[in-house]
Amino acid sequence: MDHITLSVIKADVGGFVGHSSVHDELIEEAEDRLEAAVKEDIIVDFHVTACGDDLQLIMTHRKGVDHPDIHRLAWETFEACTEVAERLKLYGAGQDLLADAFSGNVKGMGPGVAEMEFTERPSEPVLIFMADKTSAGAWNLPLYRMFADPFNTAGLVISPAMHEGFRFEVHDVKESKRVFFDTPEELYDLLVFIGAPGRYAVKAVYTKKGEIAAVSSTQRLSLIAGRYVGKDDPVCIVRSQGEFPAVGEVLEPFTMPHIVEGWMRGSHYGPLMPVPLYHATPSRFDGPPRVVSLGFQIAGGRLVGPRDMFDDPGFDEARRLCNVIADHFRRHGPFEPHRLPMEEMEYTTLPQVMEKLSGRWEAIP
Ligand code: 13P
Ligand code: 13P
Ligand code: MG
Ligand code: MG
Repeated sequence: MDHITLSVIKADVGGFVGHSSVHDELIEEAEDRLEAAVKEDIIVDFHVTACGDDLQLIMTHRKGVDHPDIHRLAWETFEACTEVAERLKLYGAGQDLLADAFSGNVKGMGPGVAEMEFTERPSEPVLIFMADKTSAGAWNLPLYRMFADPFNTAGLVISPAMHEGFRFEVHDVKESKRVFFDTPEELYDLLVFIGAPGRYAVKAVYTKKGEIAAVSSTQRLSLIAGRYVGKDDPVCIVRSQGEFPAVGEVLEPFTMPHIVEGWMRGSHYGPLMPVPLYHATPSRFDGPPRVVSLGFQIAGGRLVGPRDMFDDPGFDEARRLCNVIADHFRRHGPFEPHRLPMEEMEYTTLPQVMEKLSGRWEAIP
């Protein structure tokens, strides 16, 4: 039984304090639920963690992706944690649970989902990335670097196992359509789309032989809810070594703090800061946006780990640069390009304010 599914399902069900972190009692409640699910043979193993105010359920099981038992387990765990959040009056209790009742799959109900099914290799290192105060699409640039940029990933040039390149699955999140691009052959075509991460998100990456290499959550809360409820705060799973980029090649893109949408009120651009778990607590202007990376070796479905991959002084300069960029962006206050452009502000609370002022406008004489 070396066939395994790795599911990461996450939701913000209440922040402590404000939107900055998750309270320990939520983590404990989730651990109790998942421990019971191991005993009932629903899942093989699990790890519960948090990035900022987002609760992360990392689970292994034998049921495949999109399985109703696994999605129900996640949904009911989030509901139980929401009750804890309500009792503690945590901020935005149940924020991301957009439906009243579970209907077979948490996709489209608020939580973010990244799942992959694969046959365990003799050694199976995986890295799980989790972000707070940003949107689905934030993984486009780092996934491009990992799997298509030889200046990032030496293996694309040097390793015979990777020299063929990879295949990208790109989703149009507004029109619900997808397209596949082979790299390096179609690099420029790929970049036409993924350079616009608000609309086009890299959903998955495969080897040319069709082996799953990476998968990300692409659920957009604002498109599901039709209003602003919070940011997507996406997750991403990447397999590493052998026919995939080495661990250091997977982490390397995060030394360039790219600019993502999110931060305060989900309405600002700012740099994505790679941090260890103990610093995944965005508080300055509710940010800057954070990303953490937990590494596991999977052994017979067991999650051996985690290692906190950004807990490394090698990322100190990226963090310092983030703070410099953050200062500069903050000085723009409510001006673009710190504040999102108008079309993106449609998905924030700004339209309500504009509506109030709509009667004040008159024709220019
Ligand atoms: P692979 O043997 O997995 O290609 O590893 C190369 C490596 O370890 C570079 O860090
Ligand atoms: P979250 O999406 O992380 O809940 O943040 C919402 C927010 O408004 C931060 O200022
Ligand atoms: Mg929140
Ligand atoms: Mg959040």
